[in-house]
Amino acid sequence: MATVQMRVHPEDLSQLPASNERIPNPAVMVIFGASGDLTKRKLLPALFHLEQSGLLPKQFAIVGVARRPLGDAFAQDMKEGIVDFGGVDANDAKLSEFLKNIGYFPLSFDDAAGYASLKAELDRIAKERGIGNDRLFYLATAPEYFTHIIENLGAQGMNENCDARIGVVIEKPFGHHLDSARELNQQVNSVFHENQVFRIDHYLGKETVQNMLVFRFANGIFEPVWNRNFIDHVQITAAESIGIEGRGPFYEKAGALRDVVQNHVMELLSFIGMEPPSSFDAEAVRREKVKLWQAIPPLPVLDAVRGQYGPGIVEGQKVIGYRDEERVNPESGTETFAAVRLGIENWRWAGVPFYLRAGKRLKKRATEITIQFKQPPLLIFNRMAATGPCTEIQPNTISIRIQPDDGIALRFGAKVPNTPGMSVCPVNMDFDYAQAFGQSRANGYERLLLDAMLGDQTLFSHRDGVEINWALYTPILQAWAAKNPEVFPNYFAGTWGPDCSDRLLERDGRQWKNKLGKPE
Ligand code: BG6
Repeated sequence: MATVQMRVHPEDLSQLPASNERIPNPAVMVIFGASGDLTKRKLLPALFHLEQSGLLPKQFAIVGVARRPLGDAFAQDMKEGIVDFGGVDANDAKLSEFLKNIGYFPLSFDDAAGYASLKAELDRIAKERGIGNDRLFYLATAPEYFTHIIENLGAQGMNENCDARIGVVIEKPFGHHLDSARELNQQVNSVFHENQVFRIDHYLGKETVQNMLVFRFANGIFEPVWNRNFIDHVQITAAESIGIEGRGPFYEKAGALRDVVQNHVMELLSFIGMEPPSSFDAEAVRREKVKLWQAIPPLPVLDAVRGQYGPGIVEGQKVIGYRDEERVNPESGTETFAAVRLGIENWRWAGVPFYLRAGKRLKKRATEITIQFKQPPLLIFNRMAATGPCTEIQPNTISIRIQPDDGIALRFGAKVPNTPGMSVCPVNMDFDYAQAFGQSRANGYERLLLDAMLGDQTLFSHRDGVEINWALYTPILQAWAAKNPEVFPNYFAGTWGPDCSDRLLERDGRQWKNKLGKPE
């Protein structure tokens, strides 16, 4: 398929000032579970990127909390993370200054007395640096510690201060099913007000995800066709080429539906499907998302399929099957792939199927949304499709690439020049984010951390949204848990997943986009 790169000339970006309104108050950020990968790979690089952009307050401190007695080694380890994962020069002058803001406090998360000492230490650091009482607690621990930490923060009175901004950021997984999510929500809200709670879904920090709102609501040309009259169906794919990366015990309990579909993919769905909010403030955006999710009827178990990868070849490398991964049950019934068909019963979407899929060890890494439009009512060129690679007239699509190669492509048919008759070939008009705006080193957490410090909840999940999504998927998870699949593994690593995923669309006379002749 021919691809036309679009030349985009962003109006002078250099004129955009780092607005003072976006700089948070001086604060102490406390990261629980700080010795884990997330802190080193994502959080600290993101915080340093903010520092480089002048978006952190002058008085700012980061305190890592974990069980091991790491002492000064913690800041050194974070330096490595910032350099290796943040693309930062180890000799960057700002870096050595920034590292002085990093401290460490050893604590067992269930040691109630230890929280009193933590409070005293935070107060000491704040006083020494001229920071008031603003605190941001980031829970990056295993989920079983969430409750201990929250209760103890409450018990020490660290949860509120009428003169300060105090927030708590909670990493996923937020609950394991509907009941546990409700219970966790109750516990969290018994200590923190909902407006202090930031349930993080790192997909919402991705630029292209945020751009979906701009694409839909800042451009007049898409809204008129963004509905059941023009759209045939929507596909959302979150494909990963990586496996479970040594996270066997976690993944055995999670699986693809819980790990990615129920949260990340449903967030993408909400941005594609929601009605225009009345403004871009947190309440207005979240309300529209919740309304959309509420319009999804219960999912029949037969509209969800699962898979598990066996050995195969991914990107030229031989890889082992899921059951051979470290600390995985050799007879595991955990799915590493899930696909779902769902509908949205509202005026905009009734009758338009949404197909969602997510999986590990697939052919390539690609998170992408494809909106496929209906064919014209009369295909007068039907028998005149070009020969060669273009053998049939294909429907128009808009593809939003979330990662990698963030961008948006519009596919339409064009006349093949210099051929007899009217040969039609699909071509792509392609907007590439990096080409238009330059490559960014941001990992998505920059925006989310900044928003959490500023108290802006727009890009965070609300308790209602979390519970609605669990309510939708819990029956399927229960049905799957009750009956182990007969034929697992059912796809080779390095493919697009199991056959049952193709059949989910074929029974509606449709195909996944990677089967439509588009170069993969
Ligand atoms: C996490 C999942 O939430 O998202 C991982 O737990 C998954 O299993 C990851 O690999 C995918 O994130 P990204 O940003 O790499 O698409």
